Amino acid sequence: MDQRLLDKIESLKEQRNAVILAHNYQPGEIQDLADFCGDSLGLSIKAANTDAEVIVFCGVKFMAETAAILSPQRTVLLPDKYAGCPMADMINAEQLRDLKQQHPDALVVCYVNSTAEVKAESDYCCTSANAVELVQALPPDAEIIFVPDNHLGRHVADKTSRNLIFWPGYCASHVLITDDDIRQTKQEHPDALVLAHPECNEPVKELADELLSTSQMLSFAAKGSADKFIIATEIGIIHTLKKQNPDAQFIPASERAICPNMKKITLDKIVASLEDMRYEITVPDDIGAKAKKSLDRMIEVLPAK
Ligand code: 13P
Ligand code: SF4
Repeated sequence: MDQRLLDKIESLKEQRNAVILAHNYQPGEIQDLADFCGDSLGLSIKAANTDAEVIVFCGVKFMAETAAILSPQRTVLLPDKYAGCPMADMINAEQLRDLKQQHPDALVVCYVNSTAEVKAESDYCCTSANAVELVQALPPDAEIIFVPDNHLGRHVADKTSRNLIFWPGYCASHVLITDDDIRQTKQEHPDALVLAHPECNEPVKELADELLSTSQMLSFAAKGSADKFIIATEIGIIHTLKKQNPDAQFIPASERAICPNMKKITLDKIVASLEDMRYEITVPDDIGAKAKKSLDRMIEVLPAK
């Protein structure tokens, strides 16, 4: 760990009246230095409620955009302008408008892993932590379009028995985890509980003991109901799982489950970001105002404990 860079970040943060938010998939040293580290729901709530003038978002572009929509009066910086989410780019506003035309009476729920334009075309936004509760609260006979992640969508359909219209989007990092990976890791560690993210494919989820967002995995492990866990999500979260539970064991379901975009953020880039106030993420007012409505509805729905 480079103490010189950490000290520099601390002093720049004070100078700029900035807060650093980091996602649970960030490199360990960035999770450690962040003022708040969390899942997409927790990060959105923090972004909406901070008093800081500047938000440095250590994550990917849709997260920084979400912060800019929820806090339009603040400056939101993404330390690497190329840190995107391939899943978010799997549907654009025009494609969603076409889908809405095919199902004119449907309500549209979009996963927060989506562009601002897609959020603006949606009625509700959700995260992996509250998607089930949000869809459950919609009228029982409503037709529901769910974009872009078909794997999260199938999990929601399974838990709510609602008939959802899916979009074929997926997370390229989560689908690298296979059911064979789970079977093999379980054979090596038969006493471990399998915690999987709903972005995993269906055969993986069928073998899991719990389906949880990243922060829900941290809370679940902290309860101490087991001392060995197989973790089926991006491996960055294992850093904090181990830190918070030094007596427990966490085994990645697959070492291949790495999100290259999340790993684009580095200490050097955070320094440059605060020094030069780059890269500022903004959303046009008209799109931001529409997208905010779907995000406000998302923040209102907290996941069941
Ligand atoms: P959560 O942290 O909300 O579970 O989301 C996972 C993810 O893929 C974020 O990009
Ligand atoms: Fe997107 Fe998947 Fe990376 Fe999350 S882990 S940012 S869904 S590519």
